[in-house]
Amino acid sequence: MVDQLRVGIAGLGVVGSAAFRLLERQADALAARTGCRIEVTAGAVRDRGKERGLGHTSPKMFDDPVALARAPDIDLFVELMGGDEGAARASVEAALEAGKHVVTANKALLAKHGLALAKAAEQKRVALAFEASVAGGIPIVKTLREGLAGNSIERVYGILNGTCNYILSRMEREELSFEECLKEAQRLGYAEADPTFDIGGFDTAHKLAILTSLAFGTSIDADAIHVEGIEGVTLADIKAAEDLGFRIKLLGVAQRTRNGIEQRVHPTMVHKSSALAEVMGVTNAVTIDADAVHELTLVGPGAGGEATASAVVADIADIAKGIRSAPFGLPAARLQKTEKLAMQRHEGGYYIRFSAIDQPGTIAAIAKRMAERQISLESVMQKSDPRAAGKPGAPVPVVLITYATTEELVRGAVDAIVADGTVAEKPQVIRIERQ
Ligand code: NAP
Ligand code: HSE
Repeated sequence: MVDQLRVGIAGLGVVGSAAFRLLERQADALAARTGCRIEVTAGAVRDRGKERGLGHTSPKMFDDPVALARAPDIDLFVELMGGDEGAARASVEAALEAGKHVVTANKALLAKHGLALAKAAEQKRVALAFEASVAGGIPIVKTLREGLAGNSIERVYGILNGTCNYILSRMEREELSFEECLKEAQRLGYAEADPTFDIGGFDTAHKLAILTSLAFGTSIDADAIHVEGIEGVTLADIKAAEDLGFRIKLLGVAQRTRNGIEQRVHPTMVHKSSALAEVMGVTNAVTIDADAVHELTLVGPGAGGEATASAVVADIADIAKGIRSAPFGLPAARLQKTEKLAMQRHEGGYYIRFSAIDQPGTIAAIAKRMAERQISLESVMQKSDPRAAGKPGAPVPVVLITYATTEELVRGAVDAIVADGTVAEKPQVIRIERQ
């Protein structure tokens, strides 16, 4: 343990400025808990003139984050700039090289370079900590790495992107457009600098890559994840899900299967009675299925300055206390490589919405293509559209829920139905997650 820990923060935006203020506000409590005075002695930003609400105690400022990372007057480098290359990568590498501990919230950087950075940290015997990189204020990294060390994990899955959950929740509750909800998420500081990272599912994939490594002892590899975003989810799906007892969430799922570790991010139907269905707004939730603990769900704020700063400060406090963990739970050389599994082999239930031509034999034709592939239907719903009443041949929504089957069979049936000419548009297919 040391008496004083000198911290340099690169990036004083939404998260960095909140972390700075939290460290100041909790300075005495942190000193009592850690036995060490934690002081932000330096920072780095692009624009020194910007008002950041840091009060009167402005730290020494650098323009170059790499120079800050190497500065002899800091012991710990906190990277809160974002980006998987450029200043973020260069400064984190420089800090580790200089033998400084690193704390970061940057899941994009970890998803791409996590293994190499973990090796560099191990070599220099310094900490590389990233609690804030997954699910904002939820202490999921520590839970998987330390709290569940006595478990064998079968599946880890959850709502990992606050922006998407916020958009889907508001679309459902207030029937607002996708664009309006996204704008509001940006205004509130939830979204990434480039929001396509959020809505395209890539931010969830970066977080899932970290969780998979911690849960299954694999070397982090975001390229092994199947990724779909929420751009294609319509109000019609949200309403049909509601009628059938489901809610749509963007989930990240990593699961042990007989073929290997399946990793996927996609809009998902969850039963309304499930814990995840209840999670609305910017809140995140992660569920872990494991042999000893059985099922554990952590729910909390997944984005925003204060909540994320809470996780950043927790990492800094661990370092102040002298706690050092292998970043991904195992020495980097022992992390196993994973393969990307083909989604065609995915097994589960499916929601399929057709825009079906309203004429005799349509439902029979759809059912025939399902039966040919031994796909069993749990429910079928056809809603008449008052605007189409009395217009034979007009399209009407037909929604099927299947029992567990394979993706290959479902896609085959849908392709055959499209070829039959009984539907007017490309059908919507959404996977259902068992809970
Ligand atoms: P942000 O508000 O855009 O802040 C980024 C900060 O980095 C700004 O202060 C910016 O300086 C500084 N910066 C960027 N490039 C720089 C460079 N080359 N040199 C010096 N300073 C530079 O971003 P944020 O939302 O705080 O996110 C920061 C990190 O936390 C990202 O990795 C993000 O993925 C992660 N994260 C964010 C949240 C969230 O809710 N926002 C939650 C969890 C994790 P200027 O202010 O001068 O422009
Ligand atoms: N853009 C991210 C989200 C920030 O919306 O969840 C938290 O990582």
